[in-house]
Amino acid sequence: MNEAALVLAAGKGTRMRSRLPKVLHRLAGITMLARVLRALDGAGFARPTIIVGYGAELVRQEAGESALYVVQDQQLGTGHAVRIGMDSLPAEVQRVLVVNGDEPLLPSQTLRQMLDLQQQTGARAVLLTTHLAKTRGFGRVIRNQGGELIALMQESDLSPEQQTIDEVNLGAYVFDAPFLRACLGRLAPHPPKGEYYVTDVVAMAAEVTEIERPGTAAVTVFGGAEVLGINDLVQLEEATQALYRRTNHRFMASGVTIVNGASTFIGEEVEIEADTVIEPGTTITGQTRIGRGCVIGPHAYLSDARVGEGCRIVASTVEDSTLEDGVAVGPYSHVRGGSHLGRGASIGNFAEINRSAVGSRYKMHHFSYMGDAVVGSEVNIGAGTVTCNFDGSAKHRTTIEDGAFIGSDTMLRAPVTIGKGASTGAGSVVTRDVPPGSTVAGVPARIMKEGPTPTPDSDEQLRREG
Ligand code: UD1
Ligand code: CA
Repeated sequence: MNEAALVLAAGKGTRMRSRLPKVLHRLAGITMLARVLRALDGAGFARPTIIVGYGAELVRQEAGESALYVVQDQQLGTGHAVRIGMDSLPAEVQRVLVVNGDEPLLPSQTLRQMLDLQQQTGARAVLLTTHLAKTRGFGRVIRNQGGELIALMQESDLSPEQQTIDEVNLGAYVFDAPFLRACLGRLAPHPPKGEYYVTDVVAMAAEVTEIERPGTAAVTVFGGAEVLGINDLVQLEEATQALYRRTNHRFMASGVTIVNGASTFIGEEVEIEADTVIEPGTTITGQTRIGRGCVIGPHAYLSDARVGEGCRIVASTVEDSTLEDGVAVGPYSHVRGGSHLGRGASIGNFAEINRSAVGSRYKMHHFSYMGDAVVGSEVNIGAGTVTCNFDGSAKHRTTIEDGAFIGSDTMLRAPVTIGKGASTGAGSVVTRDVPPGSTVAGVPARIMKEGPTPTPDSDEQLRREG
């Protein structure tokens, strides 16, 4: 079928009071434009045409190859924008979906429903409407006595009686393309700004109503916030809240406990398994995955985190890292990108792990820093331990083998290796490798107690020779 889609996105969005083009403002981390494009993709339009104007370059950057572009140099209104869009489409196009770029939460199914209705009825114009208690900023739907949709009126043009109408135009349309083309040249500019309104096409469509073929038809949706247009930052906040609420409801329906929805912000791409509890003040974003039976929060921030089962993250940040089952993080800790915490590891009270892999049952409980480290299992890190991984120009690796015990306030000057089962005394500054099983202390650290002499066939011996 010869269908095309136009996205109107040339306006500045003056009411946003922002330099950023309106459609590049974000809801829950994703721009309005990206959301509209996703909805169109879901409705079968992989490469719609975007009408760009204000901030055209930034808008193009955001949508990239996923769209075609036409420039509206002067923003002379939605009717003018549609005309420019239509001029760029091939003559064979029979049906065109037009959406305002500031309607970020329109579902694909609704758009598809409008296209189907146009196909079934042959209507020249199919509108999307809803009934609202707060109609501010919306054009109203005018129907005749018989309930037929005969016109759309802008808020400023309403008569006193019309102001009581609560059915509004949501700013998405499906038009019979040849009919639309014929109408666009007949649009008249509206005072005071001399703008052309695409909404005027609706009255023209109503005029050509025939018995077998309606001029106009409408899909009317219920459910408020999901279909609202965004003209200012208050509406952006309202739509964002609606979006978070919708996501929270989806998780609760699948067995995730959310203690306080109002202070829980979970991105739509996050996955969380049942029997996990999300405590208040928590934000979870990106491609985060969380297993069963975890407690996340209060006050946790997770971004692109992979969290196993039965983990606990309290008042801490975890970014682009993996936590195996039974890991405990926090309070007040930071797991930075590229880290991996083995089963049952626990870190907390001002612990920072950065680009490091630590083994199972790792313990680091008091204000410590582990950077660029590879750590075995059953390792205990004393209070105040720091990997000195940066020498001012390059980062160096620290290796800590299984069962090592790092005394409080140890400085590990990388590159350095602490052997299996070795210990460091409180306050040591370790500048050289520590052999397995031995104990070092002092500044710089010296061997206090030798480890067992390795037997020729011991692992360590082989490793050193190898
Ligand atoms: C428009 C509708 C109104 C509807 C509302 C739904 C008209 C005249 N009014 O009003 O009936 O209830 O949307 O949200 O259409 N744009 C351009 N070029 C222009 C002007 C606008 O591309 O010259 C784009 C804007 O960037 C925006 C969209 O069209 O994405 C809608 O424009 P906007 O000014 O927000 O229209 P509303 O006043 O909200
Ligand atoms: Ca708008």
